[in-house]
Amino acid sequence: MRALILVGGYGTRLRPLTLSRPKPLVEFANKPILLHQIEALVQTNVTEVILAVSYRAQQMEEELVHEAKKLGVRLIFSHEPEPLGTAGPLALAREYLCASDDPFFVLNSDIICEFPFKQLLEFHENHGKEGTIVVTKVEEPSKYGVVVYEEDGKIQSFVEKPQEFISNKINAGMYILNPSVLNRIELKPTSIEKEVFPNMAQDGELYALELPGFWMDVGQPKDFLTGKYLHIMIFSILYICIYTYMRMSMYLTSLRQKHPEQLHSGPGIVGNVLIDPTATIGKDCRIGPNVTIGPGATLADGCCIKRSTILKAAVIKEHAWLDGQVLIVSKYVNSCIVGWRSVVGRWVRMEGTTVLGEDVIVKDELYINGGQVLPHKSISTSVPEPQIIM
Ligand code: GDD
Ligand code: MG
Repeated sequence: MRALILVGGYGTRLRPLTLSRPKPLVEFANKPILLHQIEALVQTNVTEVILAVSYRAQQMEEELVHEAKKLGVRLIFSHEPEPLGTAGPLALAREYLCASDDPFFVLNSDIICEFPFKQLLEFHENHGKEGTIVVTKVEEPSKYGVVVYEEDGKIQSFVEKPQEFISNKINAGMYILNPSVLNRIELKPTSIEKEVFPNMAQDGELYALELPGFWMDVGQPKDFLTGKYLHIMIFSILYICIYTYMRMSMYLTSLRQKHPEQLHSGPGIVGNVLIDPTATIGKDCRIGPNVTIGPGATLADGCCIKRSTILKAAVIKEHAWLDGQVLIVSKYVNSCIVGWRSVVGRWVRMEGTTVLGEDVIVKDELYINGGQVLPHKSISTSVPEPQIIM
């Protein structure tokens, strides 16, 4: 079987991390979201994945080709000369998608859940119509594609980002489609949500499958980030804390239920903690809750890390203390992020929504509160108030 992933745009909301890597390659729980998706597809016998890209494709190709080999899946990069929206890329990849009569999967690249691909295929084959989309329930449906359907799943209407409340069941950004759907799509910028799904629903050719368990769109800012709070800097800081904390804590909670063996336990570990097996942890560290530590990262002796994300090959020196907790708009949200290959000095205290980009150095004994540090910077004085350091 085949799958197409809509990789598309370049995420500015995850700066400074996306200054170094395209959003789909930023690790979520130690693995790029794209890889979470590709792995799940491979488990459903997908052997060919088409990545529909319009930006920064080279870096992505280099990193992903290697991973794909390990998984035994063929990756095809379908380059758009101009952004073709969410349907146009399917027309562009027509030759691959129509290479057999099999239905194919389509995914937004910014969603994560317990991917239900096997069920989706079964359900789709049973009803026998042109397409099936996965739906989930959210509190704030107006930012999504809202779906109204009958008990058997037959969709009556699909409305993208409705102004008025219709339903709280939304498009989760995962579909299975028959190749015949391509007859509905022209090779030009087209929205699958606005131009294709409403027509399919009208023709009685679109079904919905409800998703059990957790679901998140990691590209979506949280609901309370509206109006006056949307000052650009606050926005990106808030976005990062939400990205890492709310999503991460949900993800780790789900991992605790489904695969507790993947979480770390032992002396000094508190709550849900995910540590890559290639990371090195020193003596007498205290880690957790809600911490992820990436491949090749090093924690020296006596570190204390709470509510934080340590990315690949970062180094945290002796007795550094990191806690990402902060109170914003009457909610506790949090996260410190230490970017790839960054070094946090001895006795450093880092708190709030501090985000170090790639290859940042924080000298010994400094205090950093809510600083966002651009890649390749060296910090040698404390940052007592939240700010961007360029
Ligand atoms: N290749 C390509 N080209 N990909 C694109 C383009 C493009 O021009 N435009 C967007 N994409 C990709 C994005 O990278 C993302 O993976 C996906 O298409 C959806 O675009 P978003 O910009 O993330 O849309 P959204 O989050 O507002 O809404 C979509 O996702 C919701 C679920 O998260 C819609 O599909 C909604 O209906 C849905 O509820
Ligand atoms: Mg999205």
